Amino acid sequence: MKKSNYPAYFLLFLVIVSCNPDKTNLNISSTNNLNSVEFFLSEDGTANYLVKHNNEIVIDTSSLGFEFKNQPPLQNGLTIIGSSTQTINENWEMPWGEQREVNNHYNELIIQLEETAPPKRGFILYLRAYDDGIAFRYELLAQNGVDSVIIMDENTEFRLTGNHTCWWIPGDWDIYEHLYKTTRLSEIRATDFRNDPNLAQTYIPENAVNTPVTMRTADGVHLSFHEANLTDYAGMTLKVDTVNYKLTSELVGSDRLGYKVKRSLPFKTPWRTVQIADKAVDLIASKLIVNLNEPNKIGDVSWFKPKKYMGIWWEMHINMASWDMASGRHGATTENAKRYIDFAAVNGITGMLIEGWNTGWEHWIGFEEREGVFDFVTSYPDYDLEEVVRYGQAKGVEIIMHHETSAAPRTYDQRLDTAFNLMNSLGIHSVKTGYVGKIIPKGEYHHGQWMVNHYRRVLEMGAKYQVAINAHEPIKDTGIRRTYPNTISREGLRGQEFNAWASDGGNPPEHLSIVAFTRMLAGPIDFTPGVFDISLPTKENNQINTTLAHQLALYVVIYSPIQMACDLPENYENQPAFQFIRDVGVDWERTIVLNGEVGDFVTIARQEKETGDWFLGSITDENSREIVIDFDFLEAGKKYVANFYEDGTNAHYRNNPLEIEIEQIEIDSNISRSFVLAEGGGLAISLKLID
Ligand code: NOJ
Ligand code: CA
Repeated sequence: MKKSNYPAYFLLFLVIVSCNPDKTNLNISSTNNLNSVEFFLSEDGTANYLVKHNNEIVIDTSSLGFEFKNQPPLQNGLTIIGSSTQTINENWEMPWGEQREVNNHYNELIIQLEETAPPKRGFILYLRAYDDGIAFRYELLAQNGVDSVIIMDENTEFRLTGNHTCWWIPGDWDIYEHLYKTTRLSEIRATDFRNDPNLAQTYIPENAVNTPVTMRTADGVHLSFHEANLTDYAGMTLKVDTVNYKLTSELVGSDRLGYKVKRSLPFKTPWRTVQIADKAVDLIASKLIVNLNEPNKIGDVSWFKPKKYMGIWWEMHINMASWDMASGRHGATTENAKRYIDFAAVNGITGMLIEGWNTGWEHWIGFEEREGVFDFVTSYPDYDLEEVVRYGQAKGVEIIMHHETSAAPRTYDQRLDTAFNLMNSLGIHSVKTGYVGKIIPKGEYHHGQWMVNHYRRVLEMGAKYQVAINAHEPIKDTGIRRTYPNTISREGLRGQEFNAWASDGGNPPEHLSIVAFTRMLAGPIDFTPGVFDISLPTKENNQINTTLAHQLALYVVIYSPIQMACDLPENYENQPAFQFIRDVGVDWERTIVLNGEVGDFVTIARQEKETGDWFLGSITDENSREIVIDFDFLEAGKKYVANFYEDGTNAHYRNNPLEIEIEQIEIDSNISRSFVLAEGGGLAISLKLID
């Protein structure tokens, strides 16, 4: 994948249309005229905006502003000193992704504002209207005699027009691993979810939600609020006013430093984004978040190949082995690693994660002092890193490194160069990182500016050593993969692991039908699908709340360029349904979202790069439903061998999850067929092109 094979081509129009100091009401519309943003100053000189979709207001007059330390707020007394507009229409290519080509087409209004009274501080507002939503960001400008600002609060409002149905997780400063709730806006009670016993760290200071948060209006319009290009700034939660239906930005703070953000002037904030769609499926199709990031700045990443992987991982979560060696139940032994590699190699799986390979796990959790616990280079005596790497290489299986940091990022920062150097010398090109626990030093949170900068340093170091990053307990995805395509995947949601041990019985069947329209709008997800032994015999109080066909469908529904087959090799042995995991692609030419409603069901078809084969996944919540698939997305005039993996007639996630019917037929683009998904069920289809 040389860069030259992917010539970026641009269609670019740059039109400066106005520079009118007197104008106080400005607006910009999307190319299809569906979405527009209006800007105006209120009488006291406060900056306001309003958003319309299809000529209806979807965000009513909302104000903008900041509060600082040692400076008065930047809120009112503003005047417009200039404005301009431009249109950009460009296509760019993803080195890996849900689709090869992305169109970035928007109209932008740029407004320069300044205080009328001294010290005449100013900022520029960039407002963009896209066919799939709107976005805006601030640029705080240089001030006389002041070289940096300390932001105590960003006061960006989103005033909603009704008591919308919302799919939300609490505005936790330390973790995103909460179950999504479905309530009216007026019923959001984030603080009810404080102290979840399943979370190693959690802090929900007020009634706020994390983003992406998705809503549906009474008129059926879907809105999803998030941010793009979160760089050197704090993550944004949205404080909820349940009476006036208003959201206000609430940045994640630092108790240690006593502020939200510190930046040298001038600087640009992340984009505040609203994806807008009449149909829920169009939210998933939207590329707004990646489009708002800057182009690739690390160059060729062909050293990372999208892949399926297995790992010494699930056996720890279902309590059959442990990460540490002292327990006498160590999972990461040379012998066990070779057993997994042998299985992967004959099944076309080219990645292998081995957790618990390095010393330190005796002290990784449950201790206040966790600095220096891991050095990220020393193997346990029963694990021969070089030998495992060599064995894997000989069989076409690349090791995925594992770096659990125990939320001690200063230790990790110190060791990063040495640790990545070791990986590079062994030809290991990806790492799963982890940040379980309260951040050390105390008073920092996973989603604050200090940690945002840590996560970015890891990406930059990764780029230097040709290492791609899959972070767990990460900062949320804001489309940074466009700029740093070594950002391959991340957790940042309640993953499969909760099904193994959560005291609340695990993820309910509706979980991923919500995730597809919320968390997945941010970017790739390392959910780790593929549990076949669904009843979890070693875990008395837990089971997976889906059918087997639903587990298969997740390889298509949930996008990630690395997709785990998370169960134990022995649970895949002699299982006809495993053929779907062998076959399914991981890197896509094209994606089509065929149908879906938030929290109910979703069906996605993806065409594999290079082969032209298609794969389809469909999942439902706790309700059984019939879906009709029209195969007209297949290439006309071509024949395909279709393998259907359907829930059996009596399948049910609770008491009959394994019943599956597998059928092979030849089809073409004229076929349409209906399928019944069981309660908590799914459907997976492979469609191989016949030459
Ligand atoms: C939490 C991660 O989500 C999980 O995947 C990992 O196994 C453990 N931390 C240990 O690092
Ligand atoms: Ca986790």
